[in-house]
Order: sequence, then C-alpha cells, then structure tokens
Amino acid sequence: MATVFDIAMKHTEPEKDNGAPIVAVEDLRKAFGSNNVLDGINLQVARGETLAVLGRSGTGKSVLLRLIIGLETPDSGSIRIHDQDISGLAMDRMGEIRKKMGFLFQHAALYDSLTVAENVAFPLVHHRRDMSRSERGDRAMQLLAEMGMEGDVDKMPSDISGGMQKRVGLARALALEPEILLLDEPTAGLDPISSGEINDLILKLQRERKMASIVVTHDLHSAKTIANRLALLDQGKVVIEGKFEALQHSDIALVKDFLNQL
Ligand SMILES: Nc1ncnc2c1ncn2[C@@H]1O[C@H](COP(=O)(O)OP(=O)(O)OP(=O)(O)O)[C@@H](O)[C@H]1O
Ligand SMILES: [Mg+2]
Repeated sequence: MATVFDIAMKHTEPEKDNGAPIVAVEDLRKAFGSNNVLDGINLQVARGETLAVLGRSGTGKSVLLRLIIGLETPDSGSIRIHDQDISGLAMDRMGEIRKKMGFLFQHAALYDSLTVAENVAFPLVHHRRDMSRSERGDRAMQLLAEMGMEGDVDKMPSDISGGMQKRVGLARALALEPEILLLDEPTAGLDPISSGEINDLILKLQRERKMASIVVTHDLHSAKTIANRLALLDQGKVVIEGKFEALQHSDIALVKDFLNQL
C-alpha cells in the first residue's frame, strides 16, 4: 500500500526575493471561556508560498483562519497583513484588507438560491461596482473555466457534487484577485480522485498567481503535495513548523503519530 512517504511533493518554491511576509501571526491567543484554543501562535507566509496548517479536530485551525480574516478578534498577539496590524482596525479599513483575501470556508458555504455562476460573481457584485453586469459574468465564467466547471455554470449548488462545490468555492475565493488565499479543509470529505483534482488546482494557482496561501487540512497527502511548509497545531501551540522533511525527522511523539496516520 502506498504511504504518504511515496507521495510526490509537487509544489513550486517561492522566489528567493519574496521579501517581507505577507501574513505574520505573532503570539496569537484566543480563548472561548476557559477553552484556551490558541495559546501563543507564531506563523508567517510569504508571496508564492503555501503553508499547510495541520492538527486534530478542535485544535483551533478554523479559529486561526477566522482570526486572520477578521471574523473573530484575538485576545492578544498580532496579525499583520503587509506589516499592518489588523486587530482593532476600523470596519471600513478591515473591509479594504479583506478584499485582498480569498477564502474557502470549511463547508463550501455556497448560496443555495444562486446558480454556480452567480455564486462566483457574488463578491464582484458587492466590491466591484465599477464592473458592468456582463463584465462580472465574463469574469465568473473565466474563473469557472479555470476550475474545469464551464459546463456547470447554470446549475444550482445542490445539483453538483461535493468536489464541484469546492471548485466553485475556490473560483469565488479568487474573484477579487486576492494576494492571500485561505482554504479551510479544501479536500475534506472528497474521494481520492476529487481530492487530487483540488490539489492540482491549488498547485496551478500557486504557480500562476503567487498568492500567500494558508491551507488548513487533516489530509497529510494533500499537505505534502501542495505545501512548502507545514505547521502542526496542538493544545494551542505550533508543535512543529517546517518542510515535510523536518516533520519526518522529528522525534516528537505527536509528530510521529501524525505522520503514521496513514
Ligand atoms: N464561536 C465559538 N464559541 C465558542 N467556542 C468556539 C467557537 N469557535 C470555536 N470554538 C471552539 O474552539 C475550538 C477550536 O475550534 P475549530 O473550529 O477552530 O477547530 P478545528 O481545528 O478547525 O477543528 P476541525 O478539524 O474539526 O474543523 C473548539 O473547541 C471549538 O468548540
Ligand atoms: Mg475546522
């Protein structure tokens, strides 16, 4: 049986001169009541780089993304986007920064009453008033074609598969041409072929668009394939962070257990 060690790493390395990190998280803490979900997290992502955030269920991976997007506020620590701390920013300024971010929620979160094309055009309707209706439609079609979904644009979300819904979610995340891409479990619940297709799309985006990407995943195959670096969360901390080889060579029991999951 193939193991994760047989899976090829296909990601492209970011350019050397990628400069200051686009996203920098420092000593980030967030509790809900007595539940210290994030207890001093440090992470950075540069242009053209994909960081995979791994961890068991409930370790705060989705909370971390929600903090970066600004949907939750940290108790302490900082989240810097292009060297600007986003905590405490006024709503309108945060709105401007959020436009630089594309995100795919854990449960694709498409609008049930809108077609596939309308879902992808939705961020444009709200944020690109300068574009005409037909320009927005063209842009949605182009993004859906990139995702291999050109034959499904008029379908309703309930009439397409889970893998297709994720691809529509990805197209929608790209609508505003973000510099930062945040994906929460893009392959969860998918069969291996559909997961492979999503991984290939993420790799293509990494090659062509050079975004700073954070991908939250349980899927070690996916993480190894697409990510330049991996970070494993446990009990509110980053247990280890580095290239896949660094995880392979780690003596930490939890890291070994995690790699043995397959
Ligand atoms: N709004 C909230 N109010 C209270 N507790 C919350 C809230 N959001 C998250 N939590 C708690 O924070 C912890 C981390 O949740 P989170 O959704 O980030 O986990 P996760 O790592 O994404 O898990 P999974 O892999 O299952 O998606 C959980 O214990 C969860 O119950
Ligand atoms: Mg989650």
